[in-house]
Amino acid sequence: MPKNLQDTVKLNNGVHMPWFGLGVYKAQEGDEVVSAVKAAIRAGYRSIDTAAAYNNEEGVGQAVREAMEENGLRRDQLFITSKVWNSNQGYETTLQAFETSLNKLNLEYIDLFLVHWPVKGKYKETWRALEKVYKEGKVRAIGVSNFQIHHLEDLLSEAEVVPAVNQVELHPQLTQKELLTYCQGKGIQLEAWSPLGQGHLLKNDTLVSIGKKYGKTAAQVILRWDLQVGVITIPKSVNEGRIIENADIFDFELSAEDIAAIDGLNQNKRFGSDPDNFNF
Ligand code: A2P
Repeated sequence: MPKNLQDTVKLNNGVHMPWFGLGVYKAQEGDEVVSAVKAAIRAGYRSIDTAAAYNNEEGVGQAVREAMEENGLRRDQLFITSKVWNSNQGYETTLQAFETSLNKLNLEYIDLFLVHWPVKGKYKETWRALEKVYKEGKVRAIGVSNFQIHHLEDLLSEAEVVPAVNQVELHPQLTQKELLTYCQGKGIQLEAWSPLGQGHLLKNDTLVSIGKKYGKTAAQVILRWDLQVGVITIPKSVNEGRIIENADIFDFELSAEDIAAIDGLNQNKRFGSDPDNFNF
């Protein structure tokens, strides 16, 4: 169990990844994303999750460089994730997309690069390209996103490198227990996107009342639950106050009853797209 905001989990290739990070989906390129990333790093965050599709890699890279300078941090104290977008899947196109992400971020390397969605007929070729950039040392770990068990089974039947991470939609109404158990069995670390259900879960009575016992908000209860069930979490916020609030979860512990009550909120409900039925 992580003890502070900078604690890490050891991935299946030995690389250490922070349990907690900032998501920047829908953070606007330019001032908005730059100030969010800088606020997060100032607050002690060490992991930032972007993607080619978010159109803000340049701002993320700029913020990382400025924050390193201002906070006296080395590049190896930060952990940057990006992802290849669906229209660039395939072997050669992924190799190019990786270089584009690296150039936009303007960093020497990326820590974690993911296949953003399991595009049918394409994701295995995409994976071969990720294996190549990984073997060349341009990225410290590679993984997938939005993969269901059957996608992972299919990928693993041919992959040389086992994905280090699978980043999926996961929150109290979509607890992903079967996928979590499967991934744990394969050494694949599960990571939650939209841990707050894109903000929809924050008025949930169960979460609010559990929070009251500890003097915590529903958001903090959810994020603490992620860590206690063994899932990396990357809440998105562009607001400095909420960025600080979300990370203030290392001074309390949910009881086994609380965890069971939160697990019990599951409805297999997605706020985002279904990995078995998407058309982008
Ligand atoms: P904002 O960026 O204005 O803070 P998720 O990570 O599940 O996708 O949720 C992100 C959404 O939740 C965003 O709309 C974000 O808005 C909002 N949000 C993030 N943290 C909090 C918080 N602690 N309290 C309320 N809303 C939050």
